[in-house]
Amino acid sequence: MEKALAEKMIDLAIEQLNFSYTPYSHFKVGAALLTRGGKLYGGCNIENAAYGPTNCAERTAFFKAVSEGERQFDAICIVGGKDGVLTEYAAPCGVCRQVMMEFCNPETFQIILATSREQYEIFTLRELLPLGFGPGNLA
Ligand code: THU
Repeated sequence: MEKALAEKMIDLAIEQLNFSYTPYSHFKVGAALLTRGGKLYGGCNIENAAYGPTNCAERTAFFKAVSEGERQFDAICIVGGKDGVLTEYAAPCGVCRQVMMEFCNPETFQIILATSREQYEIFTLRELLPLGFGPGNLA
């Protein structure tokens, strides 16, 4: 991953914090998802009074993209923190890792965790979801 692209994704993920709807947890998360074709989709978390229907930022980004015909992805950047203050990495929850597993190659899909343009680390999906169950298991 080129530094300039990583920075662009971090900027977009941070922008999404403005849209994050979090009246309950006040924990704001933003994501930027990169398609194989180089298009970027943003996503934010969207909470709900019934709690369960809450959608994470990562899944918002995936569902926006998939609902527009995208199926192949190269990377996602995730930022998050209480009241939108980015002090530590916001790692994806298990459900979001599983959604990534559905559409991404775990060996190559890059997950960028960031607190700023200057501070980020890149993991593969395989690193964050070892022995994951995916479409290949049903083939
Ligand atoms: N959240 C995300 O958006 N992504 C994750 O991977 C972890 C959690 C959101 C859901 C909820 O709105 C808030 O963070 C606190 O759990």
